[in-house]
Amino acid sequence: MRYGYFDDKQREYVITRPDTPLPWLNYLGCEAYFGLISNTAGGYSFYRDARLRRLTRYRYNNVPLDSGGRYIYLRDNESQEFWSPSWQPTRQPVEDYVCRHGMGYSIIGSTHDKIETRTRYFVPLDEDLEIWQMTVTNHRRKPARLSVFSSIEFCLWDALDDATNFQRNFSTGQVEFEDGVIYHKTEYRERRDHFAYFACSHKLAGYDTQREAFLGAYRGWENPAVVERGRSANSEAHGWAPIGSHHVKLRLKPGETRQIIFVLGYFENPRAQKFEPPDSQTINKREVRAVIAKYLQAENADAAFEALRRHWDNLLGLYQVKTPDLHTNRMVNIWNAYQCMVTFNLSRSASFFESGIGRGLGFRDSNQDLLGFVHMAPSRARERILDLAATQLSSGGAYHQYQPLTKRGNNDVGSNFNDDPLWLIVGVAAYLKETGDFSVLDEPVPYDNQPGSEQPLYEHLQRSLRYTLDRLGPHGLPLIGRADWNDCLNLNCFSDTPGQSFQTTTNKDGRVAESIFIGGLFVLAAGELAAIAQQLGRSDEAVRYLADGAEMERTVRQHGWDGAWFLRAYDDFGRKVGSSECEEGQIYIEPQGICVMAGIGLEDGLARQALEAVNQRLGTAHGIVLLQPAYSKYFLHLGEISTYPAGYKENASIFCHNNPWVIIAETRMGNGDRAHDYYTRINPSAREKISEVHRCEPYVHCQMIAGPDAPTHGEAKNSWLTGTAAWTYAAVTQWILGIRPTFAGLQVAPVIPTKWKGYTAVRIFRGVTYFIEVVRRGPGNSVTLTVDGAAVKGDIVPMPSAGTEAVRVSVELA
Ligand code: BGC
Ligand code: NOJ
Repeated sequence: MRYGYFDDKQREYVITRPDTPLPWLNYLGCEAYFGLISNTAGGYSFYRDARLRRLTRYRYNNVPLDSGGRYIYLRDNESQEFWSPSWQPTRQPVEDYVCRHGMGYSIIGSTHDKIETRTRYFVPLDEDLEIWQMTVTNHRRKPARLSVFSSIEFCLWDALDDATNFQRNFSTGQVEFEDGVIYHKTEYRERRDHFAYFACSHKLAGYDTQREAFLGAYRGWENPAVVERGRSANSEAHGWAPIGSHHVKLRLKPGETRQIIFVLGYFENPRAQKFEPPDSQTINKREVRAVIAKYLQAENADAAFEALRRHWDNLLGLYQVKTPDLHTNRMVNIWNAYQCMVTFNLSRSASFFESGIGRGLGFRDSNQDLLGFVHMAPSRARERILDLAATQLSSGGAYHQYQPLTKRGNNDVGSNFNDDPLWLIVGVAAYLKETGDFSVLDEPVPYDNQPGSEQPLYEHLQRSLRYTLDRLGPHGLPLIGRADWNDCLNLNCFSDTPGQSFQTTTNKDGRVAESIFIGGLFVLAAGELAAIAQQLGRSDEAVRYLADGAEMERTVRQHGWDGAWFLRAYDDFGRKVGSSECEEGQIYIEPQGICVMAGIGLEDGLARQALEAVNQRLGTAHGIVLLQPAYSKYFLHLGEISTYPAGYKENASIFCHNNPWVIIAETRMGNGDRAHDYYTRINPSAREKISEVHRCEPYVHCQMIAGPDAPTHGEAKNSWLTGTAAWTYAAVTQWILGIRPTFAGLQVAPVIPTKWKGYTAVRIFRGVTYFIEVVRRGPGNSVTLTVDGAAVKGDIVPMPSAGTEAVRVSVELA
């Protein structure tokens, strides 16, 4: 069953009924000001940091679902009926409901008693504000007398404090109202130099800024007293719950359409010029007035929207493909790339499943996110790399997370996730191959943000590798620390106290438990660093890193092979995890994927065997599960992984993030059919037709899909912000389609399904447009390359000479 359809031409998903199984979200904003918006206008906005600079309130896990948003009410002043064009929060029956989620914007509307409303929500590029452009059309034969009420609820900035510290917060709320604009200025009197504003393009019949005055006591957003009565209270918030609501009265002739624009934004004043007059407590509005006035003009709002469209044309234009498979095309060309950008921006901080207060940016997460994003905005990738590296510790270790606003490592979560540092190498390697910008390696970057500790980025990478070698266990394999990629495999935790964090509790000294996963990742990272060293002319170092990698590979083969697949780990007792000897958790997906990606066992059949085991033991119609058999009870020595009921999350769900590792591994084995089959199983577009089972958005990947051990097998959760986005994008674009940036040039080495006759693609790489045509002549993967009509050996298109704008690449596969 479907709840809408893809409009690929417009690059939109069009939702045609409001009661989707879960709120289906989109994101507004590209760089600093962000918003989440659901298909019924739920969601909230923030500036840079979803926890520390929250502009509007949202009630997570509330009932009804999806409470709090950018709500507009319409009221027919003759019949006194009122409704929400976005269905929520009034939830009256709607006609012609539609929500078009596009690239950085959403358009939501419906018709009620022949009054049609459409609202386009978006954040202009380079602005810290959002625009709601609403049009109302009277399709009646007679004039209509209408009232429009806008509404938002302000958050008192720190979202965690806002949701908990009521003894203070009920007394601190402050607003100003001037020239029709509502200013939210809680704490502006003291240490904050920022405020929010909410403006309307029309003359107002009234306004409200105090929630209780607007809703009425003991009433909810579904029937505000002010809307019911058709008259604002003109309330001014003193403490309690500041909101923003404008009231506009409209008279529409038959057939007439009118536009009303609302602008919600964030603004910072220089500290010394906060107030105007300077000795007053009134916000200095000299600068902000111009910004507000600009976007209340329809032509400026339209121009900003067109600029946003062009922005996405350009970004998506960097990689466009035409294959025989609709779902591949749609995801590569539109949604997967878009999701990569959103995930890069927000890491795992703010979605329907991440409250925005739990986490900052993850170190390993953000490094992996670079893989799907780096071609779209290399300068932002560069900045992110330097920010991440600046939180690295001088030991080479890493804070697990940092707050985007302060760019400091998060002490609460701390360090000792022993895979973390290696991901920096993987991320930087992707950046270098895409851009060729080796200057980044010379950038002085501090450790733990301490001034005076700066070392070139390259040294950070060296320490990352060293960090693993300094922490080897009894088998010579990497010690796992708190956890490796799998945050829930906590082999040193041994927690028997409810409420303790599995992420931070460590009851063992950590000198025994080892990770084969980190072993595989180390081999991969050592190879990357060796290639970088080679490019820098540091051949001795390159040789050493390769030797380190080879040594680790030997160790993995000796102590990390279980007979038919790669082992997962050794626990604190030195016993095997992920082995046929275990009763449960006999085989895990992660080491199979990462070891084969690192090239281990490609030549001698180990890789083939491991991937067969994955296929046989972990494959399901909904994707590949993380482990089997699922853990049936809590195991003190394994930690959080065994806290989840079987089939969910790390305990044997389809944890989508590592499906692409197996996909890449299959392409390394030359198996395009299987790679693409696995890809299709988790492809959200291909799953659209089972939306009632999948339940999450059909246009973006999710973190997990319940595994066969769960009663809800096939049900997705944790959509949007997941490493699945970047890895799937990398798997399909670089490994199945095979178009890979390398230091020598653009490689084209497709491993596509045998039944595909070929594909065409346009890829802009280092400023040059590559027009690529792949034609299948035989069933294999061997490439015959022609570049601008001339035969070229191998499968890498050499870097074109300076000034070249376009290159024609044709590939025959046989
Ligand atoms: C989740 C993991 C996550 C970890 C850290 C666990 O509860 O299952 O997926 O990585 O929390 O946030
Ligand atoms: C989600 C976390 O963000 C990520 O860092 C981790 O690798 C996976 N969960 C697996 O536990």
